[in-house]
Amino acid sequence: MEVYCTRPHCPRPQNNFPDLDDHATLRTVQQKYCTTCGMPLILVGRYLPTRLLGRGGFGAAFLARDRYTPGMRQCVVKQFQPAGNLSPTQLQLAQDLFEREAVVLEEIGHLHEQIPDLFAYFPVIVPSFQAVQQDQFFYLVQEYIDGQDLEQELAQKGKYSEQEVLEILREILKLLKFVHEKGIIHRDIKPSNIMRHRNGKLYLLDFGAVKQVTNAPIGASGASTGIYSMGFAPPEQMSGGQVFPSTDLYALAVTTLMLLTGETQITQLFDGYSNQWKWQSHVTVSTHLAHILDKMLLSAANQRYQSAQEVLEAIEAPQKPVPSTKINRRQPAVTPQPQQIQTQPQVQKPSPPTAPAQQFSIVEILGGAAFSGFEGGLIAIALFSLLKSAPITVVASALILGILILAQTRRTIEKWDLLIIPAITFAIIYFLPVLHAGLSIQQIVILSGAAGLVTIAVTALFRLIYKLLSLIL
Ligand SMILES: Nc1ncnc2c1ncn2[C@@H]1O[C@H](COP(=O)(O)OP(=O)(O)O)[C@@H](O)[C@H]1O
Ligand SMILES: [Mg+2]
Repeated sequence: MEVYCTRPHCPRPQNNFPDLDDHATLRTVQQKYCTTCGMPLILVGRYLPTRLLGRGGFGAAFLARDRYTPGMRQCVVKQFQPAGNLSPTQLQLAQDLFEREAVVLEEIGHLHEQIPDLFAYFPVIVPSFQAVQQDQFFYLVQEYIDGQDLEQELAQKGKYSEQEVLEILREILKLLKFVHEKGIIHRDIKPSNIMRHRNGKLYLLDFGAVKQVTNAPIGASGASTGIYSMGFAPPEQMSGGQVFPSTDLYALAVTTLMLLTGETQITQLFDGYSNQWKWQSHVTVSTHLAHILDKMLLSAANQRYQSAQEVLEAIEAPQKPVPSTKINRRQPAVTPQPQQIQTQPQVQKPSPPTAPAQQFSIVEILGGAAFSGFEGGLIAIALFSLLKSAPITVVASALILGILILAQTRRTIEKWDLLIIPAITFAIIYFLPVLHAGLSIQQIVILSGAAGLVTIAVTALFRLIYKLLSLIL
């Protein structure tokens, strides 16, 4: 059996003990020690780490076996491993937060299926490696969720569709509603802290939020701990102010942007100059979802949705198109005053969905260009066969093409229409020789195809010039 040494910086943490493959020996053996550093491997006589799952700023997570359960149940052992450069106050804060995860999991883990249960929390004192003094380590044992976190899933499967992120949003919002109603703010919502079990259910991990320790004060309940993940945390959290349910909602919206765009360097989508997220040119979603995300992402905590339930209601609300956008996307770069928000949390009803300008992706633009060129070519050939006049054909084709392009910009024609319409036009021409303009079918295909390629090239060129100009100007 492979047993993994949990001593930080152990040069060779993998240990192999063939005798432990026998369950009777595994259950009765007194202790095993790391063959490299001498660290006791069976933690509190019970848990055997087998593999490293991940290492964060202040800890490491290991997959482990609980030898005192009939099926040698798998579990996760997290070890507190603070960096060496912390001041005594920072170290104490980090340790308090590690303990906080244990406290939170003990309180709510057993109440909600999608939050891991706490199994144990204990310190271990061991002789230090190469020195005479002793080291103390803190461990937290929790339920193992057999699956992948969303960061791993994103790396494997690529961008999520709108439908997929809506399913994730619904599930996590329900979970957050439960957590917030217990008076707990997660503070570190991000893809690597959301786990998808093999059975499809999502779980929320990492209630310690031991990520970054600053000199920010801790104590007042609800105060920010100065702990956050860059890019996911809203202004009030970064400034060490009060945190709210809407702090988690902001991070959930950033998480959604990451899944939708596949952009792992998520801060790239934030425009510091205008102090707003510029994500809509990276992905196309319905105006309904775009509006909800934009509201979750507002800088001022009191202008966002105030509860997970409000976002859920907004998602499920019937979609009423409203002509102009009501969201103030030009939010000034103000950091909310903690006291003001603390005393006056304003509850805002979700405003009706509005329609921010919908962007087209580059694939859509080039697809549309190919469609226009090919369809235009077919129409021109058919019209020329009927009208026998080049000038009239040009004018009539341009007119029809103009209507088709307008329909595309309004999304009256989109997606499969771009294949179906040319297919029908081609079929009509194919079966009516009177529309062939004296050309063979091959020539018709070549001419229309060439027209499609030319429009793609011209569109790509114009887009390039546009991009260059917008960079220069
Ligand atoms: N209960 C769990 N079940 C399965 N995998 C887990 C569990 N807890 C943590 N992990 C894995 O280990 C990684 C790091 O654990 P996490 O609790 O997020 O700690 P941190 O981010 O503080 O290092 C997670 O992203 C996840 O992939
Ligand atoms: Mg984590």
